[in-house]
Amino acid sequence: MRLLPALAIGLMIVAAAACGDDGETAPPAGGGGAGGSSAATGGAGGGGGSTAFDWGLPPGYPKPRVPEDNPITNEKVELGRYLFYDKGLSGNGTQSCATCHQQSLAFTDGLPVGVGSTGQHHVRGAMSIANTGYLNAFTWANPVLASLEEQALVPMFGENPVELGLAGQEDTLLARLKTEPAYVDRFPAAFPEDTDPYTVENVVRAIASFQRSIISYRSAWDAYNYGGQQSLSESAVRGKDLFFGERLECFHCHGGFNFSDSVSHEGTTFEEIMFHNTGLYNVGGTGDYPPDNTGIFEFTGFPTDMGRFRAPTLRNIALTAPYMHDGSIATLSEVLDHYAAGGRTITSGPYAGVGSDNPYKSELIAGFTLTVQERADVLAFLETLTDYELLTDERWSDPWH
Ligand code: HEC
Ligand code: HEC
Repeated sequence: MRLLPALAIGLMIVAAAACGDDGETAPPAGGGGAGGSSAATGGAGGGGGSTAFDWGLPPGYPKPRVPEDNPITNEKVELGRYLFYDKGLSGNGTQSCATCHQQSLAFTDGLPVGVGSTGQHHVRGAMSIANTGYLNAFTWANPVLASLEEQALVPMFGENPVELGLAGQEDTLLARLKTEPAYVDRFPAAFPEDTDPYTVENVVRAIASFQRSIISYRSAWDAYNYGGQQSLSESAVRGKDLFFGERLECFHCHGGFNFSDSVSHEGTTFEEIMFHNTGLYNVGGTGDYPPDNTGIFEFTGFPTDMGRFRAPTLRNIALTAPYMHDGSIATLSEVLDHYAAGGRTITSGPYAGVGSDNPYKSELIAGFTLTVQERADVLAFLETLTDYELLTDERWSDPWH
């Protein structure tokens, strides 16, 4: 997972300085963003035989941006689905992408941190795959990992930590894919122009296409926001107003249709990648985070980047516990405690410290008080972001069964 810090130099990272952290956010999801609702983006350039892909999104819901060198087609999405669920994609045959990204948990795994095929623990927790087609920066804190295609190589070949554990096994992997009956027609169909479609590059292209197709757009919130339906309880509506209000400030970092301030979609004109320190730690009172999890500081080395992470989407958040980059908060109610206190206090152990005093903390994390009813309202609102159809939609389920 670690890339050379040098790679980050020269990159334009909009890691908003402590004083400018309130800037630039999409408006409260009301308007649904600038998304196009025109005809399906198809497999233009996908080559003979490929069929155009229909996102199937409701009007007003933005479409993901697709890289020019990997147009999305039905054939690629289908191949990617097989690969995503294929345990043969791990060195010892025990794991697939879906081991850590399970559909029933909105494509997370319920664990605090990822556990790889050899038992090695990741320092961070698995993130939802839904709506990753809208990201312009991937994982919890990586300003240089810019596409789903590149990202897929990390779990496959990464050695620190080992996830799927395929390093050095490329040839074995490709040889196996060539002989697997499920792939004999699917690779050539997905990449009809290639004389040898069985390449690592095409593996990640197909997986990325599949992931791009996984979009969460059928929550009660969506029915309310895009469909004009009365699908929210009174409590959830009050929670929505709190969430989008200046007392709680949540929407500044978790705003827009994807409930995150780092998004990209068809028609986006100005892109930002934002990283924030929420005062989760303040080890020894010096502003430090645990040494293996320093956020984008790991890349830039700038002291003010200590503890800055990406604000993840809050879609399906009720299903993706435990929370935060290291899974260190168990419940949504405790997440609210953290924000209400303006940062978390850890009283003992190696990471003891008063997070609310973290000098690098975003000024938007100022703390607030909630009545018992208000807390219930915010939680009710967060639950409306759950998209139950996502969890069982056959298009994204395991095709091997
Ligand atoms: C061992 C568990 C594990 C496996 C296997 C795994 N992942 Fe992940 N995934 C993670 C963890 C942990 C993170 C967060 C990584 C980080 O922040 O450094 C993550 C993050 C991601 C993200 C970023 C999501 C976001 O919001 O930025 C994507 C995309 C992703 N994984 C796709 C895949 C694909 C594709 C595969 C199979 C090729 C895969 N993962 C296999 C654990 C896993
Ligand atoms: C300054 C920006 C900012 C504000 C304001 C903010 N958040 Fe966050 N949020 C983040 C970041 C960054 C993370 C990831 C932090 C980490 O893992 O260290 C996060 C994580 C979360 C998570 C856990 C996500 C997951 O997948 O584990 C939840 C839930 C959450 N925030 C809810 C809220 C709520 C509710 C509010 C308002 C009370 C709020 N946030 C205000 C930036 C913000």
